[in-house]
Amino acid sequence: MAASNDTILGVLILARHGDREGFYQDPTTYTATTTVITPLGTQQEFQLGQELRSIYLNASSPSFISGVNGTLVNQTQVYVRADAGGELGVIYDSAVALLQGLFPGNSNYTTDLANGTTVEGALGGYQYVPIESVEPNEDVSLEGYTDCNTFDDWTTEFYNSPAFLQKSNESAAFLSQLPPYLDGRPVTLENMIYDFMNVQFIHNAAFAKALPPTFLAQALALASYHEYGVFSSPQAFAGRTILPIMLSELESIANASNPLKLAYQSLAYKPFLSLFNMTGVAQQNPELAGIVNYAAAVALEVRQPSSGGEPVIRFNFKNGTGQEFVTYNFLGTTGDVPLSALVNHVNPALINSTADWCTVCNNTQDRGCGALALAASQASAAAVKANVGHHQRISPVGAGFLGAGLTLAVFLAMFGVLAFVGVLTVGRGRSKARSTGSKDSEEKA
Ligand SMILES: *[C@@H]1O[C@H](CO)[C@@H](O)[C@H](O)[C@H]1NC(C)=O
Ligand SMILES: *[C@@H]1O[C@H](CO)[C@@H](O)[C@H](O)[C@H]1NC(C)=O
Ligand SMILES: *[C@@H]1O[C@H](CO)[C@@H](O)[C@H](O)[C@H]1NC(C)=O
Repeated sequence: MAASNDTILGVLILARHGDREGFYQDPTTYTATTTVITPLGTQQEFQLGQELRSIYLNASSPSFISGVNGTLVNQTQVYVRADAGGELGVIYDSAVALLQGLFPGNSNYTTDLANGTTVEGALGGYQYVPIESVEPNEDVSLEGYTDCNTFDDWTTEFYNSPAFLQKSNESAAFLSQLPPYLDGRPVTLENMIYDFMNVQFIHNAAFAKALPPTFLAQALALASYHEYGVFSSPQAFAGRTILPIMLSELESIANASNPLKLAYQSLAYKPFLSLFNMTGVAQQNPELAGIVNYAAAVALEVRQPSSGGEPVIRFNFKNGTGQEFVTYNFLGTTGDVPLSALVNHVNPALINSTADWCTVCNNTQDRGCGALALAASQASAAAVKANVGHHQRISPVGAGFLGAGLTLAVFLAMFGVLAFVGVLTVGRGRSKARSTGSKDSEEKA
């Protein structure tokens, strides 16, 4: 992050969760039925938060965000979302830990009571920043790849591609050496087991000692090939669904009349793969075409060049704890890129709403698609019946609103149903309850 005279308007942070442990209980699917962040994971995220603080919230840093309040949180300047999907609380808890490093306790976080007493916030004036828990069933933006038939078809196609089959052949000899380390897991390139090995390698001393020295790196290389292939173009669902909210955050930051200065999304690794592909950063920097480490982070800076002109984006990436932020070229060019160029580049691929997602993913059941399909069929049934004059038997949503106002009534009712089930909410609904999540394929790799 080189110094310059640009004004830093703000930053969008995308960070992977920290170290976690899973208990792999299902003998068939090996789904990690319980997975929790570890103390190591909280340290990784906390340190990332501290580092981001030193870069963006420290008034003497060259990248200090213009006008940000780095001591006492101004909640209109900060917007945080966390994926509440298959990794249960791991991603949410990562956001909590990162925020503790980003906005540490401050003795000025106090309130003067009517009776004359001054009270400091808990934990030495710790400031609680709202975290929007993004439930996959209510909002497709952070896990656009689950329950998506088109994505599944693409994945199968990739597995059957000549390149994948060749990779599979090439890796067969290596894979055949793995069973002693996998506790009975089936070893195939489709079902790469890097994640299991990595968790064991970090937490299980006997495993770490027994594993031949190159095996983890070899397994990672294969998992990276596998996951980049699955999550990059042409489907790139993880990126296509997260980008609309990312672009709206970047545009809010760039817009002087919007207070937003620091947006942060706490994520699994999958969106990184899609985004690295869709922004071209992986094409220009092949080392980015793979799985990122725990607590890896992208920091997209929104900068107002001192020379004037429109705001530009600088792409910084840090590959986990102990690594430095590095600035990368992207979008097939060098240096910072105008925000509008990024928008134009990704625009054709965006999946902007749940309705779009249901169509693109060929899903009429899950994640709000059922309600959308029902509302659409009720609306069309109502319209058909209205035309033939059987007003009394119009679908329930139309009942009681017969006559001239029928179409409008049905439309409004449909809108009401959608709003009720949450499918019309695209981001910015704060502080939903945490849930225990839905399926996710994090453990596959
Ligand atoms: C003022 O109110 C606070 C909060 O209820 C209480 O803890 C404190 O003891 C009160 N102080 C006095 C002087 O009454
Ligand atoms: C993304 O990766 C695919 C290969 O998986 C590649 O063919 C495509 O060109 C990449 N996308 C972009 C935008 O460069
Ligand atoms: C990030 O780290 C992983 C694991 O160490 C590695 O495979 C990958 O190439 C790294 N990416 C970059 C951009 O350094």
